[in-house]
Amino acid sequence: MVIKSAIFITSNTRVDKLPSANLPEYAFIGRSNVGKSSLINALTGNRHLAKTSQTPGKTQLINHFLINDTWYLVDLPGYGFAKTSKSNRAAWEKFIRKYLLTRENLQCVFVLIDSRLEPQRIDLDFCRWLGEKGIPFMLVFTKADKQSQLKSKANIDKFRSALLQWFEETPPHFLTSAETQLGCEQVLATIDEINSN
Ligand code: GTP
Ligand code: MG
Repeated sequence: MVIKSAIFITSNTRVDKLPSANLPEYAFIGRSNVGKSSLINALTGNRHLAKTSQTPGKTQLINHFLINDTWYLVDLPGYGFAKTSKSNRAAWEKFIRKYLLTRENLQCVFVLIDSRLEPQRIDLDFCRWLGEKGIPFMLVFTKADKQSQLKSKANIDKFRSALLQWFEETPPHFLTSAETQLGCEQVLATIDEINSN
């Protein structure tokens, strides 16, 4: 897919204030600092579209971007940010879960996972929750440029095996890097395919 336009539309904390649900929508979610905003910038070829930071907890709102006037790409705040307060975390859970459970035009959730790490409980639990709720998702392993392909592949295999305790088969997955653009074309091609179905 060629990205002809990528436009910031809104930032929201309230699900009832989101843009009208009249176009297919794809959300990027995952732990704080996993690289959600960076990947969105890499996919759209615009380094300044979504705000990124070395400090976890940068994205705090639901951010909608309109792509090619035909679909929405959504940048979400990260989960598992250790420094945030308990009440903050509960608020996050409530509003993100509400978004995921009620957004009728949501086609697929891309769950981002740091390819450098062994499977993390919080990511596995989140995937399990998506599965229980019947929310379609795919796995996007990030920061592939930071280590050998072999190491990434080993972590991907471990993550997929861990999912098999709850799922009969694992969802599609991608190995990506916002630095080298690895995997970006595949992610966009998948979105294109879903859009045209
Ligand atoms: P929150 O908004 O805080 O939840 O974080 P996020 O998941 O949006 O992460 P963000 O894109 O802001 O990136 C976090 C840090 O990781 C930044 O310093 C990025 O430059 C770095 N980063 C993200 N993706 C990559 C990647 O593919 N390769 C490398 N080397 N660094 C990356
Ligand atoms: Mg972010």
